[in-house]
Amino acid sequence: MEKAPLELERDNVELLPKESEARAAAICKGQAILNGFLFVCLLVSLLSTADSPPTPAPRDGSRAACSGHGMLFDDAAACECFDCWTGSTCSERLPDESELCVVVANSGTPYIFEQYWVAHPEAAISIKPSYHIGYNPDMPRLEAAIRSMHELVGNAVVDETKHVVVGIGSTELINAALYALADDVSAGEHPSSSPPSQRRQPAAVWTQTPFYSGYRSPPAYFRSRAFEWAWDADPNASTAVPPPTSAARRVIELVTSPNNPDGHLRVPVVSGAHSAVVMDHAYLWPHFVATGAPPVDHVSNSTISLWTLSKVSGHASTRVGWAITSCPVLAARLTAFVRAASYGAPRESQLRAIAAIEHIVAHDGELFRVARRLMLSRWRRLEDAFARHGALVASTEGVLAASPAYRLEGRDAPAADAFSAETSYEASPAYAWVQKLDGGDCLAAMASVGIVARPGGQFGVSHDFVRLELLMREQTFVILLAKLDTLLGVASG
Ligand SMILES: Cc1ncc(COP(=O)(O)O)c(C=O)c1O
Repeated sequence: MEKAPLELERDNVELLPKESEARAAAICKGQAILNGFLFVCLLVSLLSTADSPPTPAPRDGSRAACSGHGMLFDDAAACECFDCWTGSTCSERLPDESELCVVVANSGTPYIFEQYWVAHPEAAISIKPSYHIGYNPDMPRLEAAIRSMHELVGNAVVDETKHVVVGIGSTELINAALYALADDVSAGEHPSSSPPSQRRQPAAVWTQTPFYSGYRSPPAYFRSRAFEWAWDADPNASTAVPPPTSAARRVIELVTSPNNPDGHLRVPVVSGAHSAVVMDHAYLWPHFVATGAPPVDHVSNSTISLWTLSKVSGHASTRVGWAITSCPVLAARLTAFVRAASYGAPRESQLRAIAAIEHIVAHDGELFRVARRLMLSRWRRLEDAFARHGALVASTEGVLAASPAYRLEGRDAPAADAFSAETSYEASPAYAWVQKLDGGDCLAAMASVGIVARPGGQFGVSHDFVRLELLMREQTFVILLAKLDTLLGVASG
């Protein structure tokens, strides 16, 4: 076994000057022993590898256990079948026309990411019972991961002058932002410090219609003295023009861009000293829209931008969101709100968010590319279905077909995208915004073919509109399309 290395030793020595020979021989002898040792080690390791199976790579069998049409979660006794699949292992497909085959398209749960995470179980976390049982929930590593992800995508300014405040989902931060912006930072006002005599009217919370259905309930539910939903204060207020601003009554505009439900990019319409803006960028990610230059809308002292893990990685139940602002006073108010409301986002949630975000960054945003391909293909199939049946697809290029019964809201024009470096990046919004053109009840029409949609009323418009979620699993989307095909086919005769 030692033969080859020793021969090598002799060959080497012959190349060295005579006086170094003895020392060289000693070194080479040592080397030979080492080489021999390494060779034995290699052999032992090869033999042992051949005898015992290799350590298995982590595998997530949650879908496979349910025939690919459901999920068996670790804490569940049975499969949760996807819409229109049934049986103990979800192997039976209900016919599309069965009353039991109902596609639930009224939520915003981003299942487009689920298959990716099934394929990447290495991004799992495990937590020791002894891990940080104290109250301190601050995790700078999450903030660093968030900044890296924005830098990778190019959709936010996150230099060191910007503050990132983490909350329990964007839902908590919407309230935190309304609280933070209700009083004028530059005038030194503070929501809790002004004596009652000096308190102005509550700030009016206003947003253009159609608006995200989650905006109306916080002001209505909390009945805060700091802010109120504009249409509670004045039922006749315009849904297109903001209420007037004044020193006595500030206006906070909630701007969702891209918008939920119709997918359009939006800009604020309020302006002036007594106004403030919350830019909700839940959907400003490459799977939904082009991001050109990072929007600079969170760099003023009266603006806060909001982001959520729910629509970035799909981990909606983790309940992690973040706000970005350049104003230290606003950052302090946001933090104070989160502390008062919940004493911070749970560490367990933050750990899961860190694992997901660090994975996304380490894989150069591959998750976004996967989700993007899916969303784009869905939009093509959806528009084809509407066009095939002569339904209107409102688009930047104009009307595509005539004699319509339904109208599908069109997508914004393609634009340059920083993440992919594509110059003509098509939008692929998270939702389809559909109108029934005879003025009838669109929700009921969808229900007649087994589609559960979200009614226009929840977005501040009439019942001839519905929002259809497009974030479901692929097999559910295929059934949704088939059902829409039936609906549109009946409507076009
Ligand atoms: C525009 C918008 N903002 C905020 C949220 C809430 O996000 P989170 O899950 O972080 O509470 C949603 C959820 O659908 C949303 O669509």
